[in-house]
Amino acid sequence: MLEPHRLQLPSSIARVEYFAEIDSTNDSARRMAGELPRDTTLLVVAERQTAGRGRGSNRWWTGDGSLAFSLLFDPARYGIEIRYGCMVPLAAAIGLIDAVTERLPSPAVGLRWPNDVYIGERKLAGVLVEGLPDGRQILGLGCNVNNSVAVAPPEVAMIVASLVDELGGPLDRTEFLSSLLSAVDAALVRLSEDREALAALADELCLQRGRMLHVQVGDERVSGICTGIAADGALRLDTPTGPRILYSGIVLKE
Ligand code: BTN
Repeated sequence: MLEPHRLQLPSSIARVEYFAEIDSTNDSARRMAGELPRDTTLLVVAERQTAGRGRGSNRWWTGDGSLAFSLLFDPARYGIEIRYGCMVPLAAAIGLIDAVTERLPSPAVGLRWPNDVYIGERKLAGVLVEGLPDGRQILGLGCNVNNSVAVAPPEVAMIVASLVDELGGPLDRTEFLSSLLSAVDAALVRLSEDREALAALADELCLQRGRMLHVQVGDERVSGICTGIAADGALRLDTPTGPRILYSGIVLKE
């Protein structure tokens, strides 16, 4: 189990709610948002989620020993301009990669646009950022840590990675969560201070470069070879009709 009293939190986080079990940490943060002043950053962390959500209609497997948490925060407190709020998911993924590569220095850890963290062909972590009408954001992050792929449900076992399997042993999740929170905090600061450097890093970490991608953008399906991530966090594709820059969309299975 996590030991919340041992968590070392970045100074930006003012309140922590810890649950043994909850539906979804994102939903829990949303329910609490109304009672919190907008300058209070809240961390909701849970051992298990009964209805963990992914992007679109995806569900998220929160296996025993994984990490699932959400941060409710105001991007303006970090100095993040509203028009770059859409780069928060990318920043979160970069924070995650920073925390992971401290423990697993492998060039195979990288990013799949818009914000999935992969080890090779397998997904290690996902980010779900949702906006509130008042401009605050809920940044939800799930990472497979001590939940071995060996016990994953059959529908995900072939496509996920977990740190315990990569490292050959369990991590101290409280310690890992502490460094993850600091790394995400640092990436958000970086987004406000040097957005282009953050995007350049995302571009470097992009595992999709050179691959043919099919992206659903509303009613349109755009196909093309990925040429990386642009300075504003968009996906760059070379399509048969010329270069395209995508700011949103669901990347379909390759
Ligand atoms: C994705 O891969 O599509 C995003 C997965 C995000 C999962 C995390 S786990 C913590 C937070 N609470 C949720 O219900 N979802 C996010």
